[in-house]
Amino acid sequence: MELMAAAAFGLEGLVKQELQDLGFMAKAEQGGARFETDYEGAFTANLWLACADRVLIIIGEQKVTSFEELFNFVTSLPWEHYLPRDARFPVSGNCVRSQLMSVSDCQSITKKAIVERLSRKYKVKWFEESGSTYPITIAIHKDLARVTLDTSGNALNKRGYRTWVGEAPIRETLAAAMVRLSPWQADQPFYDPCCGTGTLLIEAAYLAMNRAPGLTREFAMESWATVDSRVLQQIRKEAKARCMKDAPINIVGSDIDPEAIKLCEKHINQAGLQGKITVRTKDFRDVCLQDGNICFVTNPPYGERLGDQKKAALVAKSLGVLLDRHPGSSLSVITPDARFEAQVKRQAKTRRRLYNGRLECEFLTFPTLNQ
Ligand SMILES: C[S@@+](CC[C@H](N)C(=O)[O-])C[C@H]1O[C@@H](n2cnc3c(N)ncnc32)[C@H](O)[C@@H]1O
Repeated sequence: MELMAAAAFGLEGLVKQELQDLGFMAKAEQGGARFETDYEGAFTANLWLACADRVLIIIGEQKVTSFEELFNFVTSLPWEHYLPRDARFPVSGNCVRSQLMSVSDCQSITKKAIVERLSRKYKVKWFEESGSTYPITIAIHKDLARVTLDTSGNALNKRGYRTWVGEAPIRETLAAAMVRLSPWQADQPFYDPCCGTGTLLIEAAYLAMNRAPGLTREFAMESWATVDSRVLQQIRKEAKARCMKDAPINIVGSDIDPEAIKLCEKHINQAGLQGKITVRTKDFRDVCLQDGNICFVTNPPYGERLGDQKKAALVAKSLGVLLDRHPGSSLSVITPDARFEAQVKRQAKTRRRLYNGRLECEFLTFPTLNQ
């Protein structure tokens, strides 16, 4: 089967690398990375991918410019290979810069076409849809229609550890990407001085412990009649065995807001990382550590709103002071502010464009001045 590990804009290359590290041949393209595998491989990708949003089976792709073409294309696909007679198959959709731009029409035509195909194959007129869920998407981009079957169900950023939200928490997938793009090595101290609800800390710990991000959550494909659940259970068991629970890690965070720290502690417990990560209430301007060679990685307060910009400038300046106080360390920060480098008064060693939701940002890494 051909699959797409869907990813946020800017993370496609990282997801391709993750797939290659899992042993798949992968190719990045806008919106994700493509690879070939079977159901077991799809389950492995769901368990292990840290930066992807979903793992989708590509059922078919074709250029369509009319509803009739769309109907004929979807009817031509071998749905009976994927959907059993009792399948529940909701269809979602999106259309971008195409001749067919009515999402609701494209969804209902896709649904009708699948019913038409299955009616012929199963020789029934009406489907109860009383069984497991097989989420289908019709996506039309510049007239190229792609029909996919979602093996993940809930998006992959939902690892299962976050049940409380704090001030502007970062998505788990973006946090995982920031950890991977930072210069951090697992044997080095990791410190988030504006840790909020702890997303960066938890994603760093998972990486250091080789803990599959999806280890304790469920995926849509686990209830499918087309997959052998015992095999999937075995894959999960093997992933569990690969987690290095006792790996020595030095991951610490602080935040000025005691409520955020309370949430952070709850998340750490939910993530099964009690005793692995230290957090405390602290203004980052007062952070002064004995360790050297620290990797500071953070998502500081942005100051997007007018009037907050002065505050954002002060935050940048103070982060520079924090770095100066820790010679031999590095600071990696995600910011939408094009003036961040000027404010922090140094040049980034590496930069990467990332999106925090819809907000275009840069992920910048600064060494200490003597490096
Ligand atoms: C964008 S949020 C970080 C969210 C975090 N990455 C998460 O996933 O929850 C910025 C955080 O900076 C904290 N903050 C603001 N000023 C601070 C200061 N002077 N020292 C430490 N933390 C501060 C806020 O309390 C907030 O939690």
